[in-house]
Amino acid sequence: ELFPVIAIDGPTASGKGTVANLVAEALGWNLLDSGSIYRMVALAAAKRGIDPANEAALIPVATGLDASFVHGRILLEGEDVSVRVRLEETGNAASRLATHAGVREALLSRQRAFCRAPGLVADGRDMGSIVFPGAFLKIFLTASVEARAERRYKQLIAKGLPANIEDLLRDLRARDARDSSRAVAPLKPCEDAVLLDTTTKSIDEAVRFVLDLAGERG
Ligand code: C5P
Repeated sequence: ELFPVIAIDGPTASGKGTVANLVAEALGWNLLDSGSIYRMVALAAAKRGIDPANEAALIPVATGLDASFVHGRILLEGEDVSVRVRLEETGNAASRLATHAGVREALLSRQRAFCRAPGLVADGRDMGSIVFPGAFLKIFLTASVEARAERRYKQLIAKGLPANIEDLLRDLRARDARDSSRAVAPLKPCEDAVLLDTTTKSIDEAVRFVLDLAGERG
């Protein structure tokens, strides 16, 4: 990597997105929310009636993905999908298509292109292991599944979206199992990652922890 990268990986709803955002803001660095790219492939595939199991049909969709980030809005083929991209069903479809090696490969250069001056904070599952193995700081951010379900519940309700705590718990467990057990780029801390368990930590404490480590190493 030509510019410094902080990789923040972890399970869904662990708070890594929020932490990555605030760390990027504090440093004035670029941000890559890689999950949103997988989510956008899921939306583009659904639009074309392609099943998340159909790797061969998904690869050209991933390669040709027409996605842009404009003034905090997410556009897919010019259409504002900011709300739809966050829906649980989109995340579940993303998690299914993310199991394909060909899809992951097709998204590599798109993700690496986010590494621009003065630096990048990247969040996802494989930022430290595969996309940015040279990251100078790798964080593996976790929280208990109950804490994550509760956070996701509050997020969805705050956005006026439908939410049910039992469904969320069940979906998170299924998503964790799929993300951790897949053959390609499974969710697991890389050897040189620092573990950060936020079950009983506030967002501010987590952000401080990352910024302190970045300062020590930077
Ligand atoms: O993080 P988020 O919930 O938005 O990601 C949606 C899904 O995309 C995850 O469940 C995961 O399967 C997949 N993903 C991935 N690699 C990444 C980011 C997300 O496989 N770097």
